Amino acid sequence: MHVQSKRIAITGAAGNIAYQAIFRIAAGEFLGSQQPVALNLIDIHPAMPSLGGTAMELEDCAFPLLRDVVLSDDLEVGFAEVDYVFMFGARPRGKGMERSDLLQENGKIFGPQGQAINQVASRDVRVLVIGNPANTNALIAAHHAPDLEPSQFSAMTRLDHERARSQLAMQTGNPVAEVTRMILWGNHSPQMHPDISYCSVAGTPARELVEADWYRDTFIPMIQQRGARVIEARGASSAASAANAAILHMRDWVLGTPANDWTSMSVWSDGTYGVAEDLIFSFPCRCENSAHQIVGDLELDDFGRERLKENEAELLAERDAVRELLS
Ligand SMILES: NC(=O)c1ccc[n+]([C@@H]2O[C@H](COP(=O)([O-])OP(=O)(O)OC[C@H]3O[C@@H](n4cnc5c(N)ncnc54)[C@H](O)[C@@H]3O)[C@@H](O)[C@H]2O)c1
Repeated sequence: MHVQSKRIAITGAAGNIAYQAIFRIAAGEFLGSQQPVALNLIDIHPAMPSLGGTAMELEDCAFPLLRDVVLSDDLEVGFAEVDYVFMFGARPRGKGMERSDLLQENGKIFGPQGQAINQVASRDVRVLVIGNPANTNALIAAHHAPDLEPSQFSAMTRLDHERARSQLAMQTGNPVAEVTRMILWGNHSPQMHPDISYCSVAGTPARELVEADWYRDTFIPMIQQRGARVIEARGASSAASAANAAILHMRDWVLGTPANDWTSMSVWSDGTYGVAEDLIFSFPCRCENSAHQIVGDLELDDFGRERLKENEAELLAERDAVRELLS
């Protein structure tokens, strides 16, 4: 039986995270071993020679599932009829740059990209923004795609979710596969809130396995600062783990979350948990057939509610800083 290829766009394709993601996607780790794929690799003009090298390496891998590779610095070519988009491309924070400058500079990238996706991508496209500040970049892209649903855009908090699962597994001496129902709330920023209230470790509530002090004073700051610790150690930001999380996020979105679990995704807020609408906010989500649903019926304690409010306030301030870039 002939299976039609799925076309996947990757922006920032000449960058570090993309280099860790592209070969895994071509090998079938995103859509599975039966689904042929075509890759549209997008970057800015000066990065094209380097991208040519990546294309040569893809040929040299002779991946059985890889049917086509397009390299482009033209958004209308790069996003043409794509089914899925990984947006890694972003302007890094330069010396002396304020967060508001970073928001502005990246807003100028994600507006036109959202517009091009709106014009030429598949009507069922699913978009994941990884480039920082990821939540607000995704909001800008979604605003520039009025013919698509905002629920087709998401931002990545899955790396923080997996970091939290892993640290809890180590603390309790269990295999990480036993850690389910972790929640990462809010913004992909040091304000994010890793929440173990509903987490289960090998069938036991996590809260019965760890001290409340460890959770608040050690675990939460460790997850919030983990990205910075990796940069200190490596001299470069997380790349392989970010690529891994991006593939997991998209795979679960498209193929579904496990029956007894959920994941954390930054998605368009519809007011669930009292979070202001029209923000891209990280919630616990269940997915099936390329659709996500926010798990909306969890009781929050005062501590949790305060952390959600802090994250909402930060994202509202980011939205205000790019107000003129939201169409
Ligand atoms: N959400 C997360 O959990 C998470 C984790 C790690 C890193 N990140 C972010 O991911 C982004 C990428 O990280 P990296 O290490 O790969 O960076 P990198 O600097 O190695 O690569 C970025 C790439 O984007 C390209 N680019 C810049 N402007 C572009 C545009 N307008 N169109 C297309 N491509 C463009 C650059 O040419 C470069 O190839 C950064 O913003 C980083 O902060 C997010």
